[in-house]
Formats: sequence, structure tokens, C-alpha cells
Amino acid sequence: MDIHLSGKSVVITGGTRGIGRIISLTLAKSGAKIAAIYRSDEDTAQSTLAELNAISSAGHFIVQADIAVEDQVGEAFKTISEKLDGVIDYLILDAAVGAGGPLTEMTSADWIRPFDVNVHGAFYMVRAASPHIQKNGSIVFISSGAGHDPMEGLSSYGASKAAANHMSTVLAQELGPRGIRVNTVSPGHTDKSGTDPNSNPESYTDRQLEIINTTALRRFGTAQDVANVVLFFVSDLSGFVTGQWVRVNGGRL
Ligand SMILES: NC(=O)c1ccc[n+]([C@@H]2O[C@H](COP(=O)([O-])OP(=O)(O)OC[C@H]3O[C@@H](n4cnc5c(N)ncnc54)[C@H](OP(=O)(O)O)[C@@H]3O)[C@@H](O)[C@H]2O)c1
Repeated sequence: MDIHLSGKSVVITGGTRGIGRIISLTLAKSGAKIAAIYRSDEDTAQSTLAELNAISSAGHFIVQADIAVEDQVGEAFKTISEKLDGVIDYLILDAAVGAGGPLTEMTSADWIRPFDVNVHGAFYMVRAASPHIQKNGSIVFISSGAGHDPMEGLSSYGASKAAANHMSTVLAQELGPRGIRVNTVSPGHTDKSGTDPNSNPESYTDRQLEIINTTALRRFGTAQDVANVVLFFVSDLSGFVTGQWVRVNGGRL
């Protein structure tokens, strides 16, 4: 089924690289105009912008900001609001950072950083975007399996994602009366190259094979798998769905 997003505007954090890049390209292919926020990788951001412009001349643009810094989010929204005439249809919160290692051995900085970006950054973004989001708009949080289940070595990342999961459900209640839906997509292990490793199974690494063999659908997840569910959540096909979490993990327990 074709989903038409012509005339719709999307603000996406982390929309220039990894899974976020594929989400941006997927929504652009459905006709949307993309405003992608990146933090540090200007070259990749420019290259993704060129890919978006090759898809359509909707007026896609990129904005540099560290979403963990409140003032930078404010500055970014001055640009975004001007370029989108103050109208946002969809907000996708993809940008995130993690920090690994056993909880009791973590530095304070490693514990705090995922909260700065994944929780406080999401809060700054939602608060800045909210006045501009239209009726029938949609907010999608990109979470992680680590935000639902305990995963060794991912304590602060997982706790920050769990906090964002909760934020998304409260937001669904608060923004519902304005006709704005809020949902969460939680990827499992995902190949974010933009190509499909499953088309070349002989190149699987041992780690990929281990993941595939513990995944019900017996294949590796791709960024496109995640982007397809985001597309569903912004579209009218999910028009009566809000406050939900969907795991995109092939049934991996
Ligand atoms: N990959 C997986 O297997 C997997 C599994 C579960 C969940 N996820 C979730 O999926 C989402 C995307 O993951 P990914 O692996 O594709 O990420 P990624 O490749 O590491 O890309 C992260 C993106 O977020 C941006 N970003 C990071 N910190 C930022 C900040 N402070 N301000 C603004 N932008 C910032 C980066 O911008 P720059 O490049 O410019 O720095 C980059 O575009 C994340 O929410 C992640 O938690 C991923």
C-alpha cells in the first residue's frame, strides 16, 4: 500500500546517519519534507541531504545542534520554524548515545551522558516542537530493546531509554486532545548500513549468526525494518493508535 506524505514536514533528530538516515529517506520517498538534525558528522549530513534532494525537491534541509544543550535546541528551532513556516507534522526522536560496561564500574560521565541526550535532549526537542505540531500530527520515539529488558553492560543506556518510553506514554495522554499521536519503536539488533545483510548470508559474522539463530524470524533486522514501522506510525493507517510501544526485533527474546 502506498502512503502519501506530500506536503507534510518531518523534524528528525539523528536523521542523517544510521537508522535515522533510512527513516529520513523512507519518509522522503513517501513525499515528506525532511528537516534532519545532526550533531557532529557534517560530511555524512551533507551526503544524506544530497540523497534526500535526489529523491525530491520538497526543500529538505539539515541543522546542526547538540540536542543535549537546551540553548542549541532553541537556536535550531529558530531555523526550523522559519524554514517550515512554523508548521511541523511529524517529530522523530532518533538521536541517541550509549555507554557500555558494568554498572558498578562506570564513570559518572558515562552514566550521565545517555540521560543528557536520550532523555533531556528528547524533552527539549518535544517542548520546542510541540507548539508547531499540527492536528493529526505524530511523534515517534526510537527506543531500544534495552529500554524494556535488562541487558548486561547497557545499564545507563537502557535506563535512559526506559525513561523516554515513559515520557512517550505520558506525552500521548497530554497531546491526545490536540489530535497528536505519540508512539515508540524499539529496534533490536539492527544492521544500519542501508544494505540488507540477509541478501548475502555467506558474509554473516559469527556475532550476526548468533543473533540470527536466537531470532524467531531467523534473519538480521535492518534499518528499513525500523523505518517501515515509523512510516506506519506517522501515517493515517495508525490514526487511532497512541501511547504504544512496538518492538522491531524479529521476535528475538
Ligand atoms: N543500531 C542498533 O542496532 C540499534 C538497536 C536498538 C536501538 N537503536 C536506536 O536507534 C536509534 C538510531 O541508532 P543508530 O545505531 O542508527 O545510531 P548512530 O548510527 O549512532 O547515529 C546516531 C545519530 O544521532 C545523532 N546524535 C547523537 N547524539 C546527538 C546529539 N547530542 N545531538 C544531536 N544529534 C545527535 C548523530 O549525529 P552525528 O553523526 O552528527 O554525531 C547520528 O546522526 C537510536 O535511538 C538507538 O538507540 C539502535
